[in-house]
Amino acid sequence: MSKRRFLVTSALPYSNGRLHVGHVAGAYLPADTYVRYLRARGDEVRFICGSDDNGVASLISARKEGRTVEELTAHYNARQAADFAGLGIRFDIYGGTHQPKFVELHNRISQGFFRTAFDKGYFVKKTTKQLYDVQANQFLPDRYVKGKCYNCGAEGAYGDQCEACGVSIDPMKLIYPISTITNTKPEPRETTHWYMQLPQFEEKLRAWLEAKRQPQGDCPPWRETVLNFSLGQIKQGLPERAMTRDLHWGVPVPLDDPDAAGKVLYVWFDAPIGYVSFTAELCQQVDGDWKAYERWWKDPDCRIVHFIGEDNTVFHALTWPAMLMAEGSYQLPWQVVANSFLNIKFPGKEEEKISKSRGTAIWIEEYLKMFEADPLRYYLTAIAPESQRTTFDVDDFITRNNGELVNALGNFVNRTMTFVQKYLDNKVPAVGDRQQVDTDHLANIAAHAERVTARLDTLRFRAAMEEIMNLARASNAYFDAKKPWQQRKDDLAACGTSLNVCIQTVKALMTLMAPFLPFSAEKCLKMLNLDVTALAWDQATVELAPGHALGEPVILFQKLDPKVVFADMQ
Ligand code: 2FM
Ligand code: ZN
Repeated sequence: MSKRRFLVTSALPYSNGRLHVGHVAGAYLPADTYVRYLRARGDEVRFICGSDDNGVASLISARKEGRTVEELTAHYNARQAADFAGLGIRFDIYGGTHQPKFVELHNRISQGFFRTAFDKGYFVKKTTKQLYDVQANQFLPDRYVKGKCYNCGAEGAYGDQCEACGVSIDPMKLIYPISTITNTKPEPRETTHWYMQLPQFEEKLRAWLEAKRQPQGDCPPWRETVLNFSLGQIKQGLPERAMTRDLHWGVPVPLDDPDAAGKVLYVWFDAPIGYVSFTAELCQQVDGDWKAYERWWKDPDCRIVHFIGEDNTVFHALTWPAMLMAEGSYQLPWQVVANSFLNIKFPGKEEEKISKSRGTAIWIEEYLKMFEADPLRYYLTAIAPESQRTTFDVDDFITRNNGELVNALGNFVNRTMTFVQKYLDNKVPAVGDRQQVDTDHLANIAAHAERVTARLDTLRFRAAMEEIMNLARASNAYFDAKKPWQQRKDDLAACGTSLNVCIQTVKALMTLMAPFLPFSAEKCLKMLNLDVTALAWDQATVELAPGHALGEPVILFQKLDPKVVFADMQ
C-alpha cells in the first residue's frame, strides 16, 4: 500500500487527577500501538493529545485541593504527561486547553469554530430556567450538580452525563438534584444560553454512521458498540444542546451580545477542538505555520482517528461530528475507536469497578516506580476491553507475565541469542542446507505476520498480540524440535542452519512486537545489532545476512513474584 496520512488522537484527560490502568487501556495504549504500527508501515502520522483543562471538573478539584485552577491543571498536566512518557506512549505533542503555551491558539480556534457555526444559524439563543445554588451564588452547570438519572435510575448522575448509562443529561430533568458545591437543593433561575440545533443533523449523522457498518476502502467497519449506541441515540432523537455555560473558566463566548458576558463555551464544545488547536501548535513548532493544521483536518486525504473510552462515545460519534458538519470545512472522523472500562481484582478480593475514592485503582505513577512499562502494555493489550468490560486481575497479570512474556516470548529470544553467542561466534550463522521443517517454520512466520497485519488494520489489537504470542510458542516448539544443543555435537552446520532460522525469527518477532512492546523491541534491536530502520513493517521477514555480527544478549522480561508485587500500588 502507498504512504497514507493519519491524524490520530487520544481523548484529552481532565487535568484534575492521576491516571490509572483503566484510562490507559481505553484511549491511550491502543492509540500508541496503532500509531507505532502505522509509522512502521511508512505512513505519515501525527499523534495528538493533551489535557482537558476547562469546565467544571477542574474547578471542583481545585476547590477540593485548595489551589487555583491554573495551578491544579498545570500540575496534573505535567504528571499525566510524565505517566504517558513512562509507558512509552509517545505523542507528537501534549497540549492543554488552558495551558499557557496553548490557551491563546486554542481560544482563537475554538472561538472561530463557534462563530462559523453561529453565523450559519446552527445556534439558537434561549432564556430558560437552570439550576442555581443560592448559597454559592452561582448557576450549577454540568458536574456542579448531581442527581438520579432519569434514563436508567442510577444515583449520582452528573448534570452533563450519566456515567452508568452513558446518555448526556439535561440537568433540569435530574431527579433529586443536589449542588456538589454546598450540598444544598438548587432552585431554578433564568439564564440565557446558545443551543446547538442537533436535531437538524440527525439524518446526516444517521446515514454517515450507517455507512460505517461496512468497510469503506481501507477503513474497517466501526466497532458495533460505537455504532449501536450512537444510532440508538439518534433513534430516540437528539436534543438541542446548550453550548455555553455560566462560568469564568473556559473559552469566552465570542459574541457581541451583552447576554454573552461572563459566559464560556461548554467544555465539551472546546475540548475536541483541542485536538485541532494542539495540531496547530505542533504545525507552528514543526512548520513555523499554525495554519498548516488544515493539511491534517481539512484535506480528504488525511484519515482522522479518535481513540476514546466508552463514556466519550456520545461526544465523539454524535456531537463532535455534528459540530464538524455545522462548521463545514473539516473532515469527519475516519474512525472512532472506543474501548470499555476495566474492572479490577486484587488478590483475595472480589472483582470491582475502578474507583478513586474507594482506592481500587492501580495508578500509573505507582506502577512505574516498581516495574517496567512493557509488562503492563502487554497485559492491557491481552485483556483489552475492545467489545466489553474486562478485568485487570492482579494474579492474572503476574501469571501472564511469567507464563507468556517470560516463558514464551522472552525465553525464545533469550535461548536463541545466548546459544549463538556461546557456540556460534555471535554472528548470524550460514543458511546451510534448509530442510522442510526449516522452510515450514519460515513460512509460518510469514503467515503469522500477515495475520498480525490484518488484525492491526482492523483495529483488533488484542487478537494481533495473541497472534504474536502464538508465533513465539511455535518458535519455541521449533527450537525444541531441532534440538540445537544436540546438533551442535553431531552436525555443526545443521546446528547453524537451525540457529539461522531462529535469528530470522527473533528479527520478525521484534518487528511485530515493536508497536506493542517498544522497550523490548529496542532491546532486540541492540541484540541484533540493527538500527531503527530494521523496524520497518515490510522488513519483518527480510532475512539477516549470514555473518552479520550480533550484540550482547540481554534478558527481555523479568519474572514477577506474586508476593511482593502490588503491595503499595493503590
Ligand atoms: O472524559 C474525559 O476524560 C474527557 N476529558 C475527554 C475529552 S475528549 C476530547 F473531546 F477532548
Ligand atoms: Zn443513566
